[in-house]
Amino acid sequence: MEVGALSVQLRAEQVPDLPLPASPAFDPRAARRDFPILNQTVHGKPLIWLDNAATTQKPQAVIDRLARFYAEENSNIHRAAHALAARATDAYEEAREKARRFVGAADTGEIVFVRGATEAINLVAKAWGRQHIREGDEIVVTWLEHHANIVPWQQLCAETGARLRVVPVDEDGQIRLDEYARLLNPRTRLVSLTLVSNALGTVTPAAEMVAMARSAGAVTLVDGAQAVSHMPVNVQALGCDFFVLSGHKMFGPTGIGLLYGRREVLEGMQPWQGGGNMITDVTFEKTVYQPAPMRFEAGTGNIADAVGLGAAIDYLERIGMPVIAAYEHSLLEYATAGLSTVPGLRLIGTAREKAGVLSFVLDGCRTEEVGRALDREGIAVRSGHHCAQPILRRFGVESTVRPSLAFYNTCEDLDALTAALHRIRHTLVRRGH
Ligand code: ALA
Repeated sequence: MEVGALSVQLRAEQVPDLPLPASPAFDPRAARRDFPILNQTVHGKPLIWLDNAATTQKPQAVIDRLARFYAEENSNIHRAAHALAARATDAYEEAREKARRFVGAADTGEIVFVRGATEAINLVAKAWGRQHIREGDEIVVTWLEHHANIVPWQQLCAETGARLRVVPVDEDGQIRLDEYARLLNPRTRLVSLTLVSNALGTVTPAAEMVAMARSAGAVTLVDGAQAVSHMPVNVQALGCDFFVLSGHKMFGPTGIGLLYGRREVLEGMQPWQGGGNMITDVTFEKTVYQPAPMRFEAGTGNIADAVGLGAAIDYLERIGMPVIAAYEHSLLEYATAGLSTVPGLRLIGTAREKAGVLSFVLDGCRTEEVGRALDREGIAVRSGHHCAQPILRRFGVESTVRPSLAFYNTCEDLDALTAALHRIRHTLVRRGH
């Protein structure tokens, strides 16, 4: 696809003094050619994928790796003496090692493959939570959380009589650290927070919050689902006990994700599901479990997609997460400046530290109408509540329009978005939407 064809010229007065993303080490147009799905038209217009917070597209390297696994290696793992079992087991365990390196864990025993961040948090709530949470205990989350980091804790509180406490945010969508400090107390057993808000893009001071939680004697979980495609992460630098991510939000397959658990915490945990693969010995009287991570991987897992996730990690590491973070930072500034030229557009989430997300409402226009109108221009964004209703309601809205970025997006994509919004607003306001 000719990227230049995406460019929509804005009148000079519409976009004053925009900072131009520039990274000599990185060419987003070359990266974009690695993603075959981006080379198509939608409603007769070149596709502009700005729904990366919902899911990211997959590079050819990941697609090829999945095909090669099924064409040459497919077998169940850990269980047979034949050649394909050895190949598949090696590929799966290599992916675990890549995942360990990617999140900076000390040991592959700390990396559990799960279906995604949601399953990882549920695993912690069901396994660690049921063992450790009692009536009167407190679990702290922030107002920024995705439903996946709210509902499992609510369920645990309902089962145990524990209490859910919520750290508020300020008018920009930033964590109120003063209020957080006040919430921590000797009853706080767990602090579970996001690293990047999927609805607002706020980057939280997670390392500082983890340190404060640890001083209060609490166990910590960091939800990295929305962070890992935008910035380098290191679980040891964060200091957290648990870290979760989803493969599909970092250019890997759907249905695969990670739970990192610090060795001492994971080893003390009972399994949450029972079955094959997670045992060393079963009699009708009793079962002896495997050590971590296998004791948390009951049954036949998502072997091929774990291997695909490993390929996504290879791909990201070839570009370099620091390079991606620097490019996206300037892209976000460029996008923010562009959107600020659209009359009646209100950004929801204006934190100093943001990554990847621009949530907004447009005066006089319904968010789903804006989403549909952008789709007619070939521009894919999410409009809705983004599985994070509490934080949107905190800002007095039920839904927003949410363009979200990845490193294969370009200034031309964002020019097209801004220009389309100028036109859409004009049309919708005239029609009275
Ligand atoms: N949690 C995903 C989102 O933010 C699906 O859209």
